Amino acid sequence: MLKKSLESILTPSESSELISAFDQIGDIIIVRIPDSLLVKKKIIGETLLKEVKIARSIFYQSSPVEGDFRTRNLEVLAGEDKTETEYKEFGCKFTVDVKNAFFSPRLSTERERIANLIKDDEVVVNMFAGVGMFSVMAAKKKRCIVYSIDINPTASRLCEKNIQANKLIGKIISINGEASQIIKEQLQNKSDRTLMLLPERSDEFLESAINATKNGGIIHYYSHIHADKKSDAGRLSEKHFLQVTPVNADILGSKIVRPVGPRYYQTVVDVRIKK
Ligand SMILES: C[S@@+](CC[C@H](N)C(=O)[O-])C[C@H]1O[C@@H](n2cnc3c(N)ncnc32)[C@H](O)[C@@H]1O
Repeated sequence: MLKKSLESILTPSESSELISAFDQIGDIIIVRIPDSLLVKKKIIGETLLKEVKIARSIFYQSSPVEGDFRTRNLEVLAGEDKTETEYKEFGCKFTVDVKNAFFSPRLSTERERIANLIKDDEVVVNMFAGVGMFSVMAAKKKRCIVYSIDINPTASRLCEKNIQANKLIGKIISINGEASQIIKEQLQNKSDRTLMLLPERSDEFLESAINATKNGGIIHYYSHIHADKKSDAGRLSEKHFLQVTPVNADILGSKIVRPVGPRYYQTVVDVRIKK
């Protein structure tokens, strides 16, 4: 239906391209618009606002995710200029701010996979936790303690709010600060499982992740990998991990989390470290 209404202002191929670059988060819609269609951005926004009944704000993403906080510029095209909204995932409730703290609905399958892997009584260090999406899903599903670190004060404030909204006070500890520093000061050899979801900079933080993890613990190492053949991406990221790790590690598995560009993939390698 959406495609049909967009076809009144765009060609069929233009509207297909737009729909594949479209995220709905609660009552907010974010579109990435190719340069060739920017002249039509206002009418695209107004059409989306009219057609998607629950939408209250339509934003155009005018920059990639960037900077230390991994945030993006958003320009309102139609509706309210309000970037905080409520979002639900697998029975958990979240407040997210799509402009001022990192958030992606496209990681939901990976969040569920990690929550399923966690065993009761584990201690988890989530080094780059954002608003606490992985932390809340894990602590809701399993009896575990999660240290949820983020350098962005807005992300940590929302993480606190999400801990309260999901009745997880005492199970998740939100810490605002720089992950390497926090680990050095408070979390050495604490975790059974360490998440490092900052794929662009994983190698830089690997030593800190190892410091946080107990001997025999697990690290989920995310990275961006170039692969000509999609089926090679997991194997190439395992090879890369083995080249950069300073400790012995058993690879437990690897997979593509999502495509991030032409022949570029975000991957995860699950490893058990020995130190
Ligand atoms: C890709 S996001 C991951 C967010 C989260 N895991 C999620 O699924 O929503 C990376 C996060 O790392 C945070 N960050 C970047 N550098 C950091 C550092 N040195 N220490 C702690 N957090 C950092 C950013 O603020 C951002 O929220």
